[in-house]
Amino acid sequence: MGYQRKKIALIGGGQIGQNLAMLAAMKELGDIVILDVPDYVNPVKGKALDLMEMAPHGNYDADIAGTGDYKDIEGADVVIITAGKPRVAGMTREDLLSTNIAIIKTVAEGIKQYAPKAFCVVLTNPLDAVVYAFYKLTGFPKNQVVGMAGTLDTARWRSFIAMELGVSVSDVAGTVLGGHGPDMVPLPRLTTVGGVPLTDIATQEQIDKLVHRTREAGTEIVKYFGKGSAFFSPAWSAIIMAESFLKDKKRVLPGAAFCEGEYGINGLFIGVPVMIGAKGVERIFEIKLTDEENAMLQKTAGVVKATVAETKL
Ligand code: LAC
Repeated sequence: MGYQRKKIALIGGGQIGQNLAMLAAMKELGDIVILDVPDYVNPVKGKALDLMEMAPHGNYDADIAGTGDYKDIEGADVVIITAGKPRVAGMTREDLLSTNIAIIKTVAEGIKQYAPKAFCVVLTNPLDAVVYAFYKLTGFPKNQVVGMAGTLDTARWRSFIAMELGVSVSDVAGTVLGGHGPDMVPLPRLTTVGGVPLTDIATQEQIDKLVHRTREAGTEIVKYFGKGSAFFSPAWSAIIMAESFLKDKKRVLPGAAFCEGEYGINGLFIGVPVMIGAKGVERIFEIKLTDEENAMLQKTAGVVKATVAETKL
């Protein structure tokens, strides 16, 4: 009551959602509402209360609540959407399409009604098609909607490089383009370690291995869990996108943005470097790709296009 804090709505309070809530609290991004379906309202209320009780040690001031009612997200500045089923071992992300599109329809309706101005970060898989569906269903402007995948894929790329070379991950810079699947496009040519080109300090064999591991990183984790997929790193990736919006940081992060001609891609959400500030996706940066890199990007765009076509939206 009486606070002027920002408001963050989390649609989905599962593994990623609960980590989003904790990170948003620890970073004091604002008040937090965790929304879930009727069967899961009590667990999200419990998680919210648990986080309120963590506040004295976490050193944050925030109202954190669980709910099943979209009314409670009213006026949210940011909405992060993780609602939907995760993969179980043996599934591709595309196998989740019909189930998760049905869920996203309800989610889009609720957000359109109660938080029509919110910056929306979508995590639900298959990512690039779900973010497209969400954009179509809400009719929100394209700058207001982004998919979180490239930020995670790039975090994985950077982590694997640091692990392989035994260097600080802080000094590894690079980017991963394309759809969130095994055809994604890490760019070794443009990756550096403290300003030193990766291609000067790693062998082709090492680079091939790193590219392959990055492309399969989500699946590597699903295999460990059997049921369910990664949650710590996806949550952090989404939080830095939300934070860049809330604090107008203008961070340049790879995210699934609506392309209208950029990279020769039209009418699709796909992973490209975006600048996120107070107006949401404020800019898409175009990299001059080599023919080989561009061919890989067009291939992943083709995969995304086929999945989008199946949504019939
Ligand atoms: C992954 C899931 C979240 O890549 O898509 O781990």
